[in-house]
Amino acid sequence: MSTPTPRLEIRNITRRFGGRAVVDDVSLTVMPGQVTCLLGPSGCGKSTTLRIIAGVDMQDQGEIYIDGKLICDTVFRIPPERREVGLMFQDFALFPHLSVAENVAFGLNGPKEKKRARVQELLARVELARFIDDYPHELSGGEQQRVALARALAPRPRIMLMDEPFSGLDNRLRDEIRDETLSVLKDEGTAVLLVTHEPDEAMRMADEIALMRAGRIVQQGAPYNLYNAPIDRAAAAFFSDINVIKGKVQNLLTDTPFGQFLTPAMPDGAEVDIIIRPQHVKIDFDRNGRGPNPTPDDGVPARAVVERARFMGSESLVEFRMEFDGSVLKATVPAVFLPKPGTPMWLMIRRDRCFVFPAPGQERAA
Ligand SMILES: Nc1ncnc2c1ncn2[C@@H]1O[C@H](COP(=O)(O)OP(=O)(O)OP(=O)(O)O)[C@@H](O)[C@H]1O
Ligand SMILES: [Mg+2]
Repeated sequence: MSTPTPRLEIRNITRRFGGRAVVDDVSLTVMPGQVTCLLGPSGCGKSTTLRIIAGVDMQDQGEIYIDGKLICDTVFRIPPERREVGLMFQDFALFPHLSVAENVAFGLNGPKEKKRARVQELLARVELARFIDDYPHELSGGEQQRVALARALAPRPRIMLMDEPFSGLDNRLRDEIRDETLSVLKDEGTAVLLVTHEPDEAMRMADEIALMRAGRIVQQGAPYNLYNAPIDRAAAAFFSDINVIKGKVQNLLTDTPFGQFLTPAMPDGAEVDIIIRPQHVKIDFDRNGRGPNPTPDDGVPARAVVERARFMGSESLVEFRMEFDGSVLKATVPAVFLPKPGTPMWLMIRRDRCFVFPAPGQERAA
């Protein structure tokens, strides 16, 4: 059985500005009908990567393939308009002097009736059929965004490049339009490369996430894997708040107030960070100064007092001050749980939810 050809593949793309590699040896693939998210902090090179794929900027090294065919390397280059790539950017301006129908039809060729049929089909899909003869200024921001999506999809692009297309919308509307956009793109079988700096958006939309940092892809995989098996401390911290428990390795083990952690593959004396997300901290009540019994899964409970508790809607965030060193540990609870400041409690760390990394500055020692 042959492996399917990626719709989009970029290989070893590098782009330098003034000697600095802003995109540094980036490779990734997007399969037909799949969404790959390029996720990373501001300035890491996401938009530059997208512009190179669109053909509006040129790489210094590397190749781009669509359906297995070379469309661009450093000598050969198919112009942007012949790449069958759709674009949707944050500032997706519609043409103000054209109606909704004319906007959507803009990139279409062929007989009038056929174009009209495609426009109607797409507007129905984004639930805007009734606005077909209106003008952009008569629509809300979210409606305009959906027209822009219909316009980008009209010529049936093989690939859709989207650069933070939802960032101008308020939360509720954003969720709705994101989901709707996703279902339209899946129906059309379009391969999508979506740029975002928001992990929630990436996890919601992506089949695959490519986590980018300082021009490089540091980790790539399904959202579940990036969240549950981050490659380093920064990758863990990118997806949620984290708690860090410090320790020093002795005989492949690290002793902490939460008990011993297995730290294989770390040399004696190495300083390590044990990382735990707030939703994986377990909380138990104080029984006259005593906590729950230690277990193999949850380790040894450590005593803490509530510093503050906040109601977050679907969960509560409780900050604890640890008795052993005065540090703060955060725990989220999927319910209304608002203990009073000063309440003593016991915290446990779920072993299977911890990540252990060398402490910063120790990377080379490990
Ligand atoms: N034409 C250019 N000339 C010089 N430097 C550039 C140029 N375009 C981008 N850069 C630099 O390249 C880096 C990456 O920019 P890019 O726009 O790709 O980041 P980004 O990941 O999209 O960030 P954001 O999330 O803020 O949009 C930035 O430091 C930027 O200043
Ligand atoms: Mg950008």
